[in-house]
Amino acid sequence: MNFGILVVDDDEEILGAIEKIVQSEERRVFTAQTLNEANLTFDEESVDLVISDLVLPDGSGIDLLKKVKKINDDIPFVLVTGNSTVDTAVEALKSGATDYITKPFRAVELKTLVENILNKVKIIKENESLKEEILRLKGYEQVVGKSKAMQEILKIIEKVKDIDATVLITGESGTGKEVIARLLHQRSKRNKNPFVAINCGAIPDALIEDELFGHVKGAFTDAVAPRVGAFEKADGGILFLDEIGTLRMDLQVKLLRVIQSREFAPIGSTNVRKVDVRIMAATNSNLQEMVREGKFREDLYYRLNIIHIQIPPLRERREDILPLLRFAMEKISLRLGTKPKDFSRSALEAMLNYDYRGNVRELENIVERSLALSEEDKITLNDLPEEVKQKKEENLSDESKGKGAILSYVENNGLDAYLQRIEKKVITEALLKCNYRKSKAALLLKIQRTTLVERMKRLNIPLRKDNCEDDSETETN
Ligand SMILES: Nc1ncnc2c1ncn2[C@@H]1O[C@H](COP(=O)(O)OP(=O)(O)OP(=O)(O)O)[C@@H](O)[C@H]1O
Ligand SMILES: [Mg+2]
Repeated sequence: MNFGILVVDDDEEILGAIEKIVQSEERRVFTAQTLNEANLTFDEESVDLVISDLVLPDGSGIDLLKKVKKINDDIPFVLVTGNSTVDTAVEALKSGATDYITKPFRAVELKTLVENILNKVKIIKENESLKEEILRLKGYEQVVGKSKAMQEILKIIEKVKDIDATVLITGESGTGKEVIARLLHQRSKRNKNPFVAINCGAIPDALIEDELFGHVKGAFTDAVAPRVGAFEKADGGILFLDEIGTLRMDLQVKLLRVIQSREFAPIGSTNVRKVDVRIMAATNSNLQEMVREGKFREDLYYRLNIIHIQIPPLRERREDILPLLRFAMEKISLRLGTKPKDFSRSALEAMLNYDYRGNVRELENIVERSLALSEEDKITLNDLPEEVKQKKEENLSDESKGKGAILSYVENNGLDAYLQRIEKKVITEALLKCNYRKSKAALLLKIQRTTLVERMKRLNIPLRKDNCEDDSETETN
């Protein structure tokens, strides 16, 4: 790791001496003899540590210290003082210097001091690059969406990111509704302002109004201090109303009014406040049905539903499973501080065939659990939960998968591949039912025995029962 050190002293000899003491391969040392020169260098160069004399011809080291602190409070600053009075030392530390050293000093003294300080800087810098890495992982290019459906959603986001229309995001639990809302915020012009998320389903009924609109002091018995509500917090940014379907009817009315007028009054106040907030809402319930049943206001529904983003369940966009597995592995291993692992072939197959009723969240949980359990350098079938293991021999004709899944499979792999999968599944089932007696199975399938054998060969179905046992743990990759 490279460091920049700025050394300031008007005495050329001392300046040279300090430079020599702190010099090393991974450090760049800049020198200055006046306050002015020091200021210019600080503005130009990347400086991680300043060592400055207290008395300079055109000012004081404290002036430089103040400027440095103002620009970046994290940059350590060592003051070099001429005499060892307690006063100057105290003054130096009070002004925010990291440390001070009094002239004359021994080389080793300064060397140790600088060493200690830079070690700390190094940790801070490393932490920052880790944080950046995590941010990158959280960032745009990392919202996984290879499938056609997700690509469509990403396109919609680009189209609507900077208009102020409300957005309604629907999808089963764990499909990524919040991720999509945050992505839209990130991509929008409002990204410098807050993204405030309120989970209407998680806040008790009695508190939700307070949470949304805040209150003034004395609004009710317990209101000893004013409280800023979500609408005000989100001013200039985006307010994300999660689980909107659980919002009480009377608050639905109030919300509608705020959306229409862009103004609201905190509880206990008659002073209306104007806010510039873009509303996004999410739900995993069927709002349209709730409207029909009279449980959700129709007018609010239409207000929220101006732009509708519907995220399909993961099992209907299976192309996303593999990239999501990789992404989850990377993200979770980084969080746990462990090395990411590959999946064995059979484990991968099981993961790709699984239904994920809990969608991406369930996928992440499985990855985390299997990473914790796995003892080998790969995640094997045995590390996976029972219900995933059982899905290894899954087939796509299963009714529960729905038409969307089949079409999306065909779009990716072609009709022939899909038909083959079904053919293989049906023949295998027939064989099992007939205890692998081919003549009987052929009869059941209403085809010739020879045709059956031909097809079994073509489809790689073992000709004998003993070979057809699950060979789950034979790894090929
Ligand atoms: N497309 C995606 N790319 C990367 N990560 C995703 C994606 N979709 C979801 N996730 C991850 O899955 C988890 C669940 O996502 P999120 O909380 O957005 O789902 P949700 O639809 O809001 O769920 P719920 O209805 O339970 O609130 C999060 O950890 C999120 O990071
Ligand atoms: Mg959510």
